[in-house]
Amino acid sequence: MVYKSPRKVAVEVLNNVVGTKKPLKFALTENILSMFDKADRAFLLEVIYGVLRNLYYIDWLLEDFYKSREKLSMYTINNLRCAIYQLVFMHIPAYAVANETVNVEKSFNGKPNVVNAILRNFLRKYQADEIFRITEQMQTDNKNLSVVYSHPEWLITRWLKRFQLNEVKALLKANNEKPPITIAVKPEERQMIGEYFTQKGFKVSFSKHVASGLIIEGQGYEIRKTLKESPFFWIVQDEASQLVCFLLEPFEGACILDACASPGGKTLLTAALIKKGTIICIENNKKRLENLQENIARVKKFLPDVEIQPILADICQISLKKHLDSLGFNTHKFDRIILDAPCSSTGVIRRNPDVRYRVNEQEIKRLSKTQKLMLENVSQFLVKNGILVYSVCSTEPEEGEEVIESFLQKHDEFSSIKKLRTYPHIDGMDGFFMGKLLRIK
Ligand SMILES: C[S@@+](CC[C@H](N)C(=O)[O-])C[C@H]1O[C@@H](n2cnc3c(N)ncnc32)[C@H](O)[C@@H]1O
Repeated sequence: MVYKSPRKVAVEVLNNVVGTKKPLKFALTENILSMFDKADRAFLLEVIYGVLRNLYYIDWLLEDFYKSREKLSMYTINNLRCAIYQLVFMHIPAYAVANETVNVEKSFNGKPNVVNAILRNFLRKYQADEIFRITEQMQTDNKNLSVVYSHPEWLITRWLKRFQLNEVKALLKANNEKPPITIAVKPEERQMIGEYFTQKGFKVSFSKHVASGLIIEGQGYEIRKTLKESPFFWIVQDEASQLVCFLLEPFEGACILDACASPGGKTLLTAALIKKGTIICIENNKKRLENLQENIARVKKFLPDVEIQPILADICQISLKKHLDSLGFNTHKFDRIILDAPCSSTGVIRRNPDVRYRVNEQEIKRLSKTQKLMLENVSQFLVKNGILVYSVCSTEPEEGEEVIESFLQKHDEFSSIKKLRTYPHIDGMDGFFMGKLLRIK
């Protein structure tokens, strides 16, 4: 196999994510990760995630050393960002970082002399411990939270309006910490699967929040490899996302609608919880529907008595009756509905560090309108005494509480049974809003 330098690939991935705003989860594929051995893969991940979690801070450190930043290509800028991350956060010796960074620059036909000069000047000015002193000072002064924690100012301003300063800092910090890898399994198999992973050399703990959750320590790639070879039902899913399925009060024999289904985390865990029944899952994106179908196909053998029917459709326009008739269903109403709506993803920044640089405030307002429309549409398909759970992985009230409140103002046939918020810095889970509605008439 041709040797690929993890430093060079890190720069290429960052060009896609920071440059062309491709989501990290699509830019850093399993194919790319499989090109490396364990040590190089760990290095690659550390540099990419590290740069993204500290982008504004690294840019702030570099600011004084550019003569004319606008003349440098995205490659050179990302190459320098990777170098600073290695120097400041990974404590890699200066000569090694400088040499490798210049080599990567040469391989891009970039500006090795400029890179070399910037790094030398940087090293002349700063000793690593000095940088930490400056950062600590910035943190205690509560100045430049946006720079210190690398989050956009508008988002911090929003959080400061709703939370105490200490809480905002804790949230920002939690968003920059490596989250655990959590999987969902059948609750009755959790003990056995915990032992399976322990025997394979992983450290495992049980979720305190959900009976299906197992937290596995280790490198994500290695865990996924072990999972793929394992003989039981599993899905990678944060505890907060699993909680949505429990809030739904799924029961054996239930007929369930999952209105926004791909990649299928909630569909599949709910299927495992009901053991027997039907789940209709709607997805409006063709590619994402294929992904959902692949995920269903992978675990279907562990769910023999649950019929799972994916449908490509827009939940705001769908003629559900027509679809259900053509599938031979004699019911047009559901006992349970999950509406896990598309959202700003501000609650999952710790898993997707690039989200903070893509989302903007206007987007939140636009999403809120869509979410209200979606809830309006799906609610008509719920039976009397049925439960609908609305969820989003967003920290923002426009996408959570406000959607539920505006719906309830127009619908006295529904009542709210529970509203729940989870946060990474409080619960150690992704940031979700969940609203549980009961149809009373
Ligand atoms: C938050 S994700 C759902 C995650 C999923 N419930 C899970 O747990 O794996 C929202 C999904 O809704 C889909 N979607 C967005 N607008 C839609 C619409 N109008 N109708 C149906 N699906 C839609 C998106 O393509 C996306 O796959």
